[in-house]
Amino acid sequence: MALEELGVTPDPAPPSARVVRLLADVDARFDGLLAGGLHTRLPNFAPADYGQVHGVLAALARTSVRGERFLEWGSALGAVAGMAAALGFRSCGIELDAEMAETSRELLAAHGLDVEIVQGSFMPEGHEIPADLDDPDTATLRPGVAAYDLLGRDLDEFAVIYAYPWPDMREAFLDMFDTHAADGALLVTFEGRDGCHVHRRTDGAARDPL
Ligand SMILES: C[S@@+](CC[C@H](N)C(=O)[O-])C[C@H]1O[C@@H](n2cnc3c(N)ncnc32)[C@H](O)[C@@H]1O
Repeated sequence: MALEELGVTPDPAPPSARVVRLLADVDARFDGLLAGGLHTRLPNFAPADYGQVHGVLAALARTSVRGERFLEWGSALGAVAGMAAALGFRSCGIELDAEMAETSRELLAAHGLDVEIVQGSFMPEGHEIPADLDDPDTATLRPGVAAYDLLGRDLDEFAVIYAYPWPDMREAFLDMFDTHAADGALLVTFEGRDGCHVHRRTDGAARDPL
């Protein structure tokens, strides 16, 4: 298998009022968690630029993947999984940090967003990453028990996966996606100053553009 990078033009329309309210609440909850010592537990924790990610998800929601299953790897407070649900995806998230997983469940429910969040690792059981990448300070891929059994779904049941890898983890995330996702599935990454990227897993056969 292989990955092809797709050029997806972000939808320039502003997020809906519902998404704006969700993101305002996410911000407020982050402030609370930071005041409570989140950075002691996760020193380099940082959220994505949700405006940028929304533009890409909104563009995908105009294509044939709308309504398909969506998974946020490392869902933190569930902002991206929540935006995906608001845009019409069947959305869920996996988050290792128990406090963030629990807070995100409350927050998403308070906004009437039907998103399943499970606590555990998004790294499938048995998958290995190069040992020199196993840096706990990066906090974008920490060790934990795989959460797919709790979710009742395997990675290859999702049409769209979203993640925010640190730069040194990017290749490991792409490799994990290429190894376990379904043919034709999409990986959306937010990559800091490099913005958002979309990759499709492909067997090399010609496919329609999105
Ligand atoms: C860079 S933050 C991104 C948060 C959010 N997805 C976003 O885009 O704003 C990475 C998140 O992944 C979580 N995480 C790290 N390793 C994980 C793992 N193995 N399984 C599940 N979540 C993990 C961290 O706790 C953190 O919430």
